Amino acid sequence: MSGKATVVAPANIAFIKYWGAKDLDQAVPVNTSVSMTLSECTSLSTVEFLDGGDGPDRIEIVGDGGSLTLPDAAFRERIERHLERVRRWTGRAGRFRVATRNSFPTGAGLASSASGFAALAIASTRALGLTLDVPELSTLARMSGSGSAARSVLGGYVEWSWDGGPGGHATSLASASHWDLRDVIAIVETGTKEVSSLEGHRRAPSSPHYEARLSALPARLDTVRRAIAARDLSMLGPVLEEEAIELHLIAMSSRPPIFYWKPGTLRVLEALRRGRETGLAAWATMDAGANVHVICTPSAEKEVVRILEGVAEVADVVLDGVGQGPREEREHLF
Ligand code: PMV
Repeated sequence: MSGKATVVAPANIAFIKYWGAKDLDQAVPVNTSVSMTLSECTSLSTVEFLDGGDGPDRIEIVGDGGSLTLPDAAFRERIERHLERVRRWTGRAGRFRVATRNSFPTGAGLASSASGFAALAIASTRALGLTLDVPELSTLARMSGSGSAARSVLGGYVEWSWDGGPGGHATSLASASHWDLRDVIAIVETGTKEVSSLEGHRRAPSSPHYEARLSALPARLDTVRRAIAARDLSMLGPVLEEEAIELHLIAMSSRPPIFYWKPGTLRVLEALRRGRETGLAAWATMDAGANVHVICTPSAEKEVVRILEGVAEVADVVLDGVGQGPREEREHLF
């Protein structure tokens, strides 16, 4: 039986970061992480499964204006390994055709692997006529090697806990409607980062600060969970920023060191700090990159945009916020 499915899956921004792995290939994390699923930064993936078909899988990226390009060799290999895993998982022989498109401009400096691999995990299994449950989908997305994809299979506020088992999976802490938080993203770097997050995970344990971070995490996790449950941004914000700065401290003190920050990153952090001195309730977090995600409530969003647009190094400001999670679409890319 052949089949086709199209799925939109969102990116997510971590409040407590996944940084460091027990098994990098299958993204078995050292620590539990928590994130907010986004609404606007998404990947759309159409997957067709041709039963019994042979030959290589066909994988295309749909660019701006509908142009079709082939993924670079490393990305293609990761997608192929994922498709092979799905074939093994389901015991089916056949060939996949995949097309994928991001809602955000490529080269905007926004990571797409979490949304991309979550969309691929859901669409590829739907194309085979299967409806996997959340733990299965989350595990499949994680095994792509992009661990944060494990959290993109759910909407709202999501925890990916590692319980000593094979790698853990996402569970919901709260739905999107529980708390309307916004993520105003300051783009200070549009190029691809020089060191991948995969390499960052690999080097993390070499930092002298890594063990200290792991011992600080249980208390920080507890605060983040309580802040989400109570919708308390003044409890969440400082922990959020502390956590992001610590991730970068570890990256910068890894051996060899990794500097993801650019001058614009510091300028944005400084502008926010000044804003908070005059009562602004907004705090920053960063992934393994230079861009800054500013988390705030809807009432502060306009002021955050004004502040960010006043920073000379900010090339663009992207508005996003908490989202509902993945959904299946009727319209296919091919
Ligand atoms: O999913 P990966 O392997 O690209 O790693 C994600 C790393 C961070 O974005 C920095 C943190 C996180 O939990 O999303």
